[in-house]
This record gives sequence, C-alpha cells and structure tokens, in this order.
Amino acid sequence: MESVTQSLEMPGAKQPRGFVQIVAGTAALAGLLFGFDTGVISGAILFIKGAFGLTPFAEEVLVSAALVGAVAGATLSGRFTDMLGRKRAILITAAIFTVGSILCAVAGNLPLLIVGRLAVGVAIGVASYTAPLYISEMAPPNLRGALVTLNQLAITTGILLAYVVDAVFAPGGGWRFMFAFGAIPAIILGIGISFLPESPRWLLLHRRKQEATKVLTRIRGGQDVMTEVNDILEHAEPGHGKLADVFSPIVLPVLFCGVALAVIQQITGINTVIYYAPTIFQAAGFHSNETAIIATAGVGLVNVLMTVLSIPLIDKLGRRPLLLISLSGMGVSLASLGIGFAIGGDALKWIGVLSLAVYIASFAIGLGPVFWLLISEIFPLNVRGQGASVATMVNWLSNFIVSLTFLSLLNSLGSVWTFLLYAVLCGVGVWFCLRFVPETKGVPLEAIERDLRARRPLRKLGAG
Ligand code: BGC
Repeated sequence: MESVTQSLEMPGAKQPRGFVQIVAGTAALAGLLFGFDTGVISGAILFIKGAFGLTPFAEEVLVSAALVGAVAGATLSGRFTDMLGRKRAILITAAIFTVGSILCAVAGNLPLLIVGRLAVGVAIGVASYTAPLYISEMAPPNLRGALVTLNQLAITTGILLAYVVDAVFAPGGGWRFMFAFGAIPAIILGIGISFLPESPRWLLLHRRKQEATKVLTRIRGGQDVMTEVNDILEHAEPGHGKLADVFSPIVLPVLFCGVALAVIQQITGINTVIYYAPTIFQAAGFHSNETAIIATAGVGLVNVLMTVLSIPLIDKLGRRPLLLISLSGMGVSLASLGIGFAIGGDALKWIGVLSLAVYIASFAIGLGPVFWLLISEIFPLNVRGQGASVATMVNWLSNFIVSLTFLSLLNSLGSVWTFLLYAVLCGVGVWFCLRFVPETKGVPLEAIERDLRARRPLRKLGAG
C-alpha cells in the first residue's frame, strides 16, 4: 500500500495537498458505479425471478438491459462529452445513475424495471470513458497512469461491493435494497464533481485560457503552467470536431488501436470469469453452494488486490510491458484450464482454482486498467471524447456478444476447446500489442498528438 501512496505523490510539487488525487478519487466514483451496477444484478435476479414470475427469456432481457444501455450510452454521448465538457458529462451521468437506481428499487412491474436498468446502463456506458478521460486530462504526465488506474481500482471494488451488498440483503430477499444502494455513491459523485473544476484541456479547446490557467495552476500546485498552457493551445485544433473527424486519416490509426484493444479486452474472456465463475467451478468439480460463493468472492478479491499492485507499476514499467505480461499470463492460464478439463478428475479441481486465480491476476495487472488508460490518452484533443466513446461502445458490444455466446460455446465446443480458443485469442492480443501499441508512459498528451499529426507510426507515438 505504501508504494501505491508513494506512486501517487508528485515529486517536487508545492501542492495544495493532494488536490489532483482528490479530483481523481472523486471522478473514480464513476468507476465504482460501473462495477457495482454491472455486478448487482447477479444477486438481485434470483429474487426478481420469483417476485415477477419471469420466464427464462424475460430473465435474459433483464440481465442484458444494462449492457444494451451501456452500448447506447457510449455510442450517443461522445459528441456531448466534447461539446459540453467532461465535468458536465460526469454530472449528468451521476444524475442518471441516481434516477435509474431509484427506479429499479421501486419498480412495480417488469417493464419499469427494464427501463430502470436501461437507464443505469446508459450511465455506465458514459461513465466508463468520461471518468478516465477527465482524470487523464487533469493529471501530470508522470502520474497519469496511476491516477487513471484509480478508476479501474474503483471498478473492481464496485464489483466486490455488489457481491457484498447482494449477500447482505439476500437472506431477507431484499432485491429492492440491492438496487437502491447504488444511489448512494451516485449522489456522492454528483455532489463531489460539482465542486471540482472543468478539465483545463477542454477549457483550452474552447479557448477559455484564463479559466484553464487558473485550474492548471491549482492542480499543478502553484508551479508556472504557461509552457503547458501554450503547448496545449498550440497543438489543439480549436473547437470540438465532428464524428467524421474521428474517421479522418490522421485519427484513424489511433481509432484502430483503441477499437482493437476494446475487442481484445473482451474476447479474451474476462467477463465469462466475472459473470460465470461459479459455473466454471462447478464444471471443474466443486458442487456446493458455499464453493460458488467463495469462488465469486475470491475472483473479486484477487481482481481488486492485483489492480492495487498495477498502480505503482503502470508509470514505472509502462503500458506495453504490463499489457504483454498480462495477456501472456491470461493465455497460459486459459490453456492450462483447457488442459485441466481434458485431464479431468481431482487434478482438474486444483488446476481450475489455480488457473482462474492466475488468469484474473494477470488481467488485473495489465489489460484491465491499460485499455481504459490508453483510450483516454491516444486521441487528439478535439475528438478525444468521441474517439474514446467509439472504443467504449465496441468494448460494451464485445462484452455483450461474449457474455451471450459463452454458454452456447461451452455446450457446442466443450470446456477444453472453449478455453483453448480464448487462450489463442490472448496470443493474438500479444501479437497486436507488440506490433501496434504505443508506449505513452510519462509522455504529455500534446506530444502524443504532435506525433499523430506528424503521421508517425502507431507504435512510435510519444517515443520522442
Ligand atoms: C472491463 C470490464 C470488466 C472489469 C473487471 C474492466 O476493465 O472493461 O468488462 O468486467 O474490468 O475488473
């Protein structure tokens, strides 16, 4: 923990103590809501089924409503994030989270409940990229990785919190309380963010130099910020771009990188483990309910702890090494899980536990945080919101498709080949990162943009 704190301290800065950390910590509440609201349904659904007499189809619709909402939210919001500002986008998100959670908690029938979950999903879709982006634009280059990773830490904590809240209210069947709980962090996020300043980069994009200078001076602890201000002004094309600009020849390479990483983050199977850990453990030979609970909690805990470990590493080792270690570890553990299923018997139980632990740990240390970090860094300022929103939309869409097909894949291919297939996809991910992903560690966002406009190859962006 100490090294985490150290890695968040700014060397040599006369700081109004920790202001930039407060900014990042508050915005990261959006990540907590992302995690909580994706996780909470797994416990609530058990009781809603009985309360509303759901058919299997109705159950599927309800469970996937948030994912559909997230795809829609991410798709539709990019332009607004560039037009209205990062702060306002997060503020609106907090309001939707609050209303959506309350609606779910009081819904008297299935259609209303679905509307509530759709609304929460829209908020998740918007929050998932606006919070990292806001933090990224506030952070000094040498701390950007660690500060943005606070958001991923909040996502994993949110998932764990959802398991705990579900477990607390389960004995009384209190599914309405499970949903209502989500309104608490949403309200705190709304209040917190309204006291924080707008991103100085967004202010400069709209040529509000005086305000931007004030904000930057505050978050840089009173240092002279004129060089940074002029650098941003020099590299940013004024005004927000159009959606077509995201597909312009200059932006296309980073769009390709962001979208490909979005797909890789999901098709390597993370949410099959997050959503179906108990199913996998049961298939591996652990049959009791307690084991299912321990499996779920264990997966959640390893996810949180390894994300903590990634914080001091992300600005020291860099994004690329973490991605490569991560995807390699995921690939090896998935391959051993597949082989374990081929061997079967008692050996499978322990291979299963070990593989899943290594898999989650590997994801948490690299691919989890680095995807959200990179999409907040690589796009030019005038289309940053829109670019990140497209990558986010693809991430949620891939998540939706993988979650929808996992069980049928298990049925048709069998466990051995399903996990081997995911392992091969990790291999493809390693190749992609080696070949295309730039190293953005410690590089100012403006330097990345300058390289992009100079048409340097993807891999060399920010290489100086
Ligand atoms: C991913 C989610 C995943 C979570 C798990 C995030 O980075 O985008 O799909 O559920 O990590 O920690």
